[in-house]
Amino acid sequence: MKHWLKNPYEGYLRKHDMREDSEITQIGPGTPGGEYLRRTWQPLALTEELKDLPLLVKIMGEELVLFRTTKGVIGLVEKHCSHRGASLEFGVASDVGIRCCYHGWHFAPDGTILETPNSPKNTNHKKFCHGAYPTKEFKGIIFTYMGPPDQLPDFPLLDTYQDYHNENSELVPYSLYYPCNWLQIAENTQDPVHSCFLHTSISGAQFDESWGVLPVIDWVKTPLGMMNVNVRRWNDNIWLRTTETILPNYNQAGAFWEQPNDEKAFQRVATTRFFRPIDDTHTCVMGWRYFNDVVDPDGKGDASAVGKDKMDAIGQIEDRDRESQQREPGDFEAIVSQGPVAIHERETWVETDRGVGMMRKLVKEGVQAVRDGKPFTSLPPDIPGVVSTYTQDSIVKRPPIDGLDDRKLIREYGKQYAQIILESAHINPAERRDYLQAQLDSLYIDSL
Ligand code: FES
Ligand SMILES: [Fe+2]
Repeated sequence: MKHWLKNPYEGYLRKHDMREDSEITQIGPGTPGGEYLRRTWQPLALTEELKDLPLLVKIMGEELVLFRTTKGVIGLVEKHCSHRGASLEFGVASDVGIRCCYHGWHFAPDGTILETPNSPKNTNHKKFCHGAYPTKEFKGIIFTYMGPPDQLPDFPLLDTYQDYHNENSELVPYSLYYPCNWLQIAENTQDPVHSCFLHTSISGAQFDESWGVLPVIDWVKTPLGMMNVNVRRWNDNIWLRTTETILPNYNQAGAFWEQPNDEKAFQRVATTRFFRPIDDTHTCVMGWRYFNDVVDPDGKGDASAVGKDKMDAIGQIEDRDRESQQREPGDFEAIVSQGPVAIHERETWVETDRGVGMMRKLVKEGVQAVRDGKPFTSLPPDIPGVVSTYTQDSIVKRPPIDGLDDRKLIREYGKQYAQIILESAHINPAERRDYLQAQLDSLYIDSL
């Protein structure tokens, strides 16, 4: 039952015992939400963070030690030594594993106990292993899979990781710290109307003036999760932008500084990111920024400003003093100020919050499916080895038509084009853009 205050000056009557929706916000070991996230590969650390010393990391409520053997093999093991619990953060990497600082027990990257030198004749250690998780290093980020060993999924290769039209595209990895629950950060990506306010009218144009045009928004399911279809009128052009959620906690977004002046089709992403929980109230936003002439023709991005705790856009991390945060808030300020865990019961939804509702429903369905023993079903590769994704920007010249409600008209363009994008998933990524350009060229709507 919604708790409303009905009259002015009724702050005193506010309920103060509203609680989080723990089924989808809590991610510790053994929780339903934690089990759900443990069915997919999750980013752990940047390659640049792992040097010769072991690295203590916290992921989904578990403290682990990441290390690299002197031969270059990465290991991710439980923090506390199987002998008597000293932290392997103080261990020493060897050519085949890591050696505990306390009594020298020696562990392989997969958790095999290689030696117990304080009791050389003891062979008991051959009967058990130290806890370990598989890892995968990919384009400057080290990933892990922390779910049931017999359900190890393929590492998902998204179609955006390779730019099929631009050899000079560069993926720059980053890692940003957010002191709040992962879900509210993910929800920001299915709430595109905030770009009109937070990123334009409230804080000044943080991206481009065109972001201030109130879009027509629809949300649709994709084979990977969902996407918003965000459509704006810009003079004679219609700007068709889609932004996707790849369940459980991945997201891709298009160009940061898009200016909808030139016609184009299926321009791909400016970032792929993962809202990877540290624990219930802290999150690492990790991923890549894409640098190329297509998503950033004016060179507004700055690859040197992207990395560990840095991002080349304002308000994406806590890197400013309080006054600056208050005068020009960005995503970081808006999202973190919702609280350590946003309380859903406290919210008052309007039409544009439908995407947030849809995301929560999808996450909840996924959590419950995993809890009920069903396999995790996101990330099907449409083409062998490659996962087709749906984030893009397209711009088409279609002037308003006399006698037709223009917002209804551009909504219809969005609806039809989104369907075409969805149906193009089976097309080889090297040919998909040309296919969609041809489809868009022939898309004319003159009646509703
Ligand atoms: S506590 Fe690690 S070897 Fe003894
Ligand atoms: Fe934003």
